[in-house]
Amino acid sequence: AEQPTRADRFSFGLWTVGWRAQDPFGEATRPALDPVHAVHKLAELGAWGVTFHDDDLVPFGTESGERDKRISLFKDALEETGVTVPMVTTNLFTHPVFKDGGFTSNDRGVRRYALRKVLRNLDLAAELGAKTFVLWGGREGSETDAAKDVRFALDRYREALDTLAQYSIDQGYDIRFALEPKPNEPRGDILLPTIGHALAFISTLEHHELVGVNPEVGHEQMAGLNFVHGISQALWQGKLFHIDLNGQHGPRFDQDLIFGHGDVLSAFFLVDLLENGGYDGPRHFDYKPLRTEDMDGVWSSAAANMRTYLLLKERAASFRADPEVQEALAAAKVAELGLPTLSRGETARDLLADRSAFEDFDVDAAGAQGYGFVHLSQLALEHLLGAR
Ligand code: GCO
Ligand code: MN
Ligand code: MN
Ligand code: MN
Repeated sequence: AEQPTRADRFSFGLWTVGWRAQDPFGEATRPALDPVHAVHKLAELGAWGVTFHDDDLVPFGTESGERDKRISLFKDALEETGVTVPMVTTNLFTHPVFKDGGFTSNDRGVRRYALRKVLRNLDLAAELGAKTFVLWGGREGSETDAAKDVRFALDRYREALDTLAQYSIDQGYDIRFALEPKPNEPRGDILLPTIGHALAFISTLEHHELVGVNPEVGHEQMAGLNFVHGISQALWQGKLFHIDLNGQHGPRFDQDLIFGHGDVLSAFFLVDLLENGGYDGPRHFDYKPLRTEDMDGVWSSAAANMRTYLLLKERAASFRADPEVQEALAAAKVAELGLPTLSRGETARDLLADRSAFEDFDVDAAGAQGYGFVHLSQLALEHLLGAR
């Protein structure tokens, strides 16, 4: 059961296994990885999909003949392996031209260039059959509040999204957009820093139905937020279009650890939610193999992401199937929260007339009851640890 298959729909960014481990303090520790080789290796390991930034596949500035050649070699690899491209994304952060952002740069020429870069990549995404187009605005933000009028920046962000969605509709593409929130890094403060900010922004868009979120485990945890709660709300609003799975140890720099190698208890509840909460999108890993690893370590880290997910899925199923857990869930009234607070047709006036709800309600008894959450939580931990 821990052996991944295509049916598990695991996908990886080319930039994950391909990360050469350059950081602000040190140079690369690994050689460049050929995308074609990456596709073959990922297929061997049981992955179903591969994703990329335009520049991962075709380096920035490559002339168009060479670009076509690279794309066609990549397509051959997809065909040979059966690996799909469920998602495509655009690099609007590496080149110095984007140092003040892409869609929200103060410089209008840069904004027009950024839009052109994304439109070209959207055509490629459609050509490759991608269903989701991710937008991570890593450079959309600022280090000083003197330099950015955030209200204007949000106008321009919205203008970009409205333009892209309209183009996609006009072209007849079957693509939805997913915004990826992150609080900081590389900018001091990034716009749309959390799932909540992104959801609120999306509601203002012209084609809001085409735009959802691509939350990343570590990004919400960098902001000290509960990822399971964030994902729950995104699902509840019908906006979980895609997900970036990885690991993080609380608020600090973006670690991009292997999935489960950070807050493993949260990862357990996340997998339980994804498997039982109606998410049917890709299980996409956005992680970085540790800088200490050679290429063998890279491939074993890719395998580790999938194996950890499957182990957690198995642990979550065992938790759900345990009669003692079911009893504890009932005792904790977890399902009772699903019952509407008012009866069918009941109004606030009816409630006011219901003496049992207030005048005769025994607040002392209700206040004295124990909910049994500790017992339930311990049962979850024991299933996670394999003790049950
Ligand atoms: C990061 C982001 C990126 C995005 C990617 C897709 O913190 O670097 O998570 O890895 O996911 O750019 O748009
Ligand atoms: Mn990250
Ligand atoms: Mn990500
Ligand atoms: Mn990341």
